[in-house]
Amino acid sequence: MNLVILGAPGSGKGTQAARIAEKGRIRHISTGDLLREAVAKGTAIGKQAAGIMAAGKLVPDEIVLDLIREKLADARGRAGSEGWILDGYPRTLAQAEALEKVLKEIGEKIDAVVCIELDPEVVVKRLSNRRTCVSCKAVYHLVSNPPAVEGQCDACGGKLVLRDDDKPETIRKRLDVYKKETLPILSLYEGRYIVHRVDGSKPIDDVTSDIAGLIGL
Ligand code: AP5
Repeated sequence: MNLVILGAPGSGKGTQAARIAEKGRIRHISTGDLLREAVAKGTAIGKQAAGIMAAGKLVPDEIVLDLIREKLADARGRAGSEGWILDGYPRTLAQAEALEKVLKEIGEKIDAVVCIELDPEVVVKRLSNRRTCVSCKAVYHLVSNPPAVEGQCDACGGKLVLRDDDKPETIRKRLDVYKKETLPILSLYEGRYIVHRVDGSKPIDDVTSDIAGLIGL
């Protein structure tokens, strides 16, 4: 099963993509995680992306396309994987068209699109309380999904931090970018694929059940 998950920053894409990937034994491919990894390692891509991400803007399409191309090829050759879920990609109409080309080249297709819907004001509150593990990238929320021990990842014991782009002014900038650049993809996809819209304001487990039910997992 090959899926694309769309939704505003903080709508719960990463949280749900990780759960659906585990449940469906599919690969979770997050461009945000890949870029943050590159920044943390100080690679050439990371150096180019760091300032752009901290400002809440989009990293150039060519850079992200290279990352995605490599991960899709990798997912394909991976034993035990039944497909992938793209989280954070595509983010512009140009990226959506580039993805179509790459999928054609490797003989794959998108089976369904999931869009998580959430009020922007809820997003700002949510993201200020998000904490992410520096080691394994697990995501927590200080109120709705807290770690067992404050500041420490339940899964690997890594340190939990607030992301650089989770300051209220940067969150608002990211929301503007989403509305302008990413939302048009939804109209494009509605004409091409099955698009499932889910209510992202429900508790995390309920959103997972809704998505799993809609995609037949
Ligand atoms: P990226 O990492 O993709 O960020 P994003 O799209 O802004 O999304 P987030 O990761 O902030 O939120 P999410 O929807 O995954 O929510 P989460 O599950 O964490 O991208 C970051 C940056 O990288 C971009 O701004 C850009 O610069 C660059 N980039 C990435 N991809 C790119 C691309 N394709 N092209 C160009 N640039 C790109 O949940 C949020 C919080 O809410 C958590 O604390 C979670 O525990 C909590 N939560 C989740 N669900 C619920 C719920 N149902 N109820 C209560 N709390 C919940």
